[in-house]
Amino acid sequence: MIILGLHFGHDSSICLLKDGKILAFLEIERIRKIKHTIGIKYEEIELLLNANNLLLKDIDCATITSTQLVEEIIFDSDKLDILFSKHPRDKLFSYLYDEAKVAHEDFIKSGKGWLKSILANDSLPHPYKLMVPKDNDILDKKFLLNFENFISTNIWQEQKKFSEISITKYTSLINKNIQYGFHYPVTLKLKDLTIPAYFFSHHYSHLAFSYYFSNFNNAALLSNDGAGGSYEPWNGGGYFGYGIDNKIYMLTPNSINAGEIYDYASMALGFKDSGGAGKLMGLAAYGKPIFYDEKFVGNWFDNEKKNTNVWIDHCLKMAEKNYNIKNFGKQDLILDKINVDFASSTQKLIEEILKKSANVLDQLLINSEIKTENLCLSGGTFLNCPANSKIYNETKYKNIFIPPALADMGLSIGSSMALLALLGHKQPLVSHENIAYLGLNSSCSEELIIEALNSFNSKISFFKSENIHNLIAEKLSKNSIVAIMNGQSEIGPRALCHRSILANPCFYQNIETVNKIKNREYWRPFAPVVLEGKEKEYFKNCPFPSYYMLFNAEVINDKIPAVTHIDKTARIQSISNKNEYIYKILTEFEKITQIPVLLNTSFNDKNQPIIEYPVDAINYFLKSKIDFLTIENYFISKNEIK
Ligand SMILES: [Fe+2]
Repeated sequence: MIILGLHFGHDSSICLLKDGKILAFLEIERIRKIKHTIGIKYEEIELLLNANNLLLKDIDCATITSTQLVEEIIFDSDKLDILFSKHPRDKLFSYLYDEAKVAHEDFIKSGKGWLKSILANDSLPHPYKLMVPKDNDILDKKFLLNFENFISTNIWQEQKKFSEISITKYTSLINKNIQYGFHYPVTLKLKDLTIPAYFFSHHYSHLAFSYYFSNFNNAALLSNDGAGGSYEPWNGGGYFGYGIDNKIYMLTPNSINAGEIYDYASMALGFKDSGGAGKLMGLAAYGKPIFYDEKFVGNWFDNEKKNTNVWIDHCLKMAEKNYNIKNFGKQDLILDKINVDFASSTQKLIEEILKKSANVLDQLLINSEIKTENLCLSGGTFLNCPANSKIYNETKYKNIFIPPALADMGLSIGSSMALLALLGHKQPLVSHENIAYLGLNSSCSEELIIEALNSFNSKISFFKSENIHNLIAEKLSKNSIVAIMNGQSEIGPRALCHRSILANPCFYQNIETVNKIKNREYWRPFAPVVLEGKEKEYFKNCPFPSYYMLFNAEVINDKIPAVTHIDKTARIQSISNKNEYIYKILTEFEKITQIPVLLNTSFNDKNQPIIEYPVDAINYFLKSKIDFLTIENYFISKNEIK
């Protein structure tokens, strides 16, 4: 059985799931070269099918998700469209359709959206405007409202604070209606074919991605993302759930607005481009959490339904006496005390909210007579490495799983896995090391490499080497900067060494050197990769191995200053021998330097997605100050300009 997963929201993506295995995955930003891009065109589905020698008729059914309030844009309804009718081949039980008898006309009425109004308003600046394809007639396209109106229960209408959620018994919600209540049947039209398709709940899909990859039989499930500050299903911050025996039960909306607070705070600091949250996380280490106040720790109802600006106002009011408020948010004075202490206070607040959320979930499961030591986290908020480590170090959960690509790009995977489980198929156990490398399998073919090399013939020199890993390690040991490209690209926003820029971690000045190469702010830190099994010689207080750069560790060794942040922490990635290319480089580098660690950052230019194709790799290499580039076994250097 082949399931086509379609995520239309920001960070749009396509997934092909065959017999429970992810056959292919495409983050559309990588081929459109628009970071966090929105929407799917038929040609992008076709590209993924062709790369895997599949035909349209091979697809059995499909899932559809979007980002809250982001409409599905139908670019060409002759090729790709969503029809509001149940497909004759559809046999899946849907609580909404079969039990609650919600007709398609009524389901359509529940749709919401705002993307089109943002695009139509010329005077309104909004990051989403930069994310849509640059089609001149975009406003003439069909904008289908997005649907997040799934099953609800009386218990969820009570709009509970954390203290109330933690003493509620949710046992009655472990039932078939809840399990089958977060999808709705429609029909997907792909050219002349129609197939059964299902709108899937945003947060159900977030939870499914983490649970079905975790290899846990039972687990507490927690999601949160940039939405929040509301109880409405289309804008709720996330869910508490429970997974057991391949089934997922949504226990309650959690109304956590941690992700929303973080996004607002990063914008208030003047980080208006798409990497704002990551910058705030890096800046926080420079300051002290002076403005932190425990009274903000809770969900939206604990905070009297106040919007997130209340937190910012609180910090600025506290800062009135002893800080230079005029410097707040000024990019050229970003290390001024007001900015770093605001960042640090926001970081601490988010850590405490998320830790408390994990504890509330633990408590409600105990009240519901459910025992588990496992926790699955998902949604973009959990890109926050220090918060994840705090949950690991300071809660009762023994095992924590967070998948890569845990923000919205993972929804096409999560919804596909959820559909497979609802159809009664057992999810296969997966090898954790390999789920990060699901990028387009055709993008680094020998044919494309040769074509790209030849097209830059006059500007580069290159040769093929069987000892490429030794060569790279030797260059790095001599403090050259080397970009590498190998195999299928990593999924999600973190650099995981298939499209990476590497540097020697032992030289402090490499922070400045690599930040300049990447056009990043000079104060931003870099992360290390470390050989699996060697983590404890350099780091502590982090789950090992840590494959996806999603946890923070304390650095306990002073030999790697270029990957040690100002607060002596680092976001590590463990490298196992299954990740052969970088594993061999690290092993050789250790032989030369006795250090099994390298500096690793994503292979992309400022505000650009990670590079996908060889031609783009060489193009960027030539305009940057990267010393050498390797693509698979090809070693590439720049010709001197005469
Ligand atoms: Fe999300």
